[in-house]
Amino acid sequence: MKIGVFDSGLGGLTILKAIAKELPQYDYLYLGDNARVPYGGRSGEIIYQFTREAVAFLFQKGCKLVILACNSATANALRRLQQEDIPRNYPDRRALGIIKPTVEYVLGNREKRIGIMGTYATVESEAYLREVGKVVPEAKVLQQSCPLLVPLIEEDEFEGPLLKLALTKYLQPLLAQKPQVVLLACTHYGLIKRQVEKMLGPEIKVVDQGKLVAAKLKLYLNNHPEIESKLSKRHERTYYVTDLNLRFGEIAEKFLGEKVVLTKTEL
Ligand code: DGL
Repeated sequence: MKIGVFDSGLGGLTILKAIAKELPQYDYLYLGDNARVPYGGRSGEIIYQFTREAVAFLFQKGCKLVILACNSATANALRRLQQEDIPRNYPDRRALGIIKPTVEYVLGNREKRIGIMGTYATVESEAYLREVGKVVPEAKVLQQSCPLLVPLIEEDEFEGPLLKLALTKYLQPLLAQKPQVVLLACTHYGLIKRQVEKMLGPEIKVVDQGKLVAAKLKLYLNNHPEIESKLSKRHERTYYVTDLNLRFGEIAEKFLGEKVVLTKTEL
């Protein structure tokens, strides 16, 4: 059986890239719901419904374990999937998210003033506040939604004045609250880590999710041999998307750093 990786679009390929680098032996099935991307401006309820459909697709395609490599989906759907849908319909399968590993990693470093950059849907769900509060109630979570960043990154605006302007708009209010660490809590933002670091200055640590999610997955598989033993190990990669044009292929290659064949599917 395979490991499924789901994202609202193609940004989750940055997470899959890191996971597959750390754990190359497994077979991965990626699904990007780019017919309905972005999720970041949508309601929690609709994000839950879309994510439930996506996870059901991945289970039906033979995934034992699905990683929600999307902060907006994790924030708004994971808990309900784990508590309701999966026990009822797929009791022998598992879904994991991207928020808990991120929070555990940051709290492991003992920072108490934590800045979060994310989509509206992630920020409004307050999922990061909840997860941090469970472990370190006295920690201060400073949230900033950054809705312009995803389209700018998809348009290759890495260096020019547009990105700088958007980052100034979003980072100034964060900086004013004096964070010790800033989490790039959106699949796309890892690609502009350097620019964020430059703007925040050397005192503030910037954390992106790919590597740490990969390390946590490795640990999870070590601790769950009943799941790991069911995973096939043929180094296969399959990529499904819910909409396809030439541009999606180009963006996918940028995020994955290699050539990729996307197959269109319906959910
Ligand atoms: N993948 C989404 C996330 O990590 C960002 C893109 C979207 O808004 O759908 O939140």
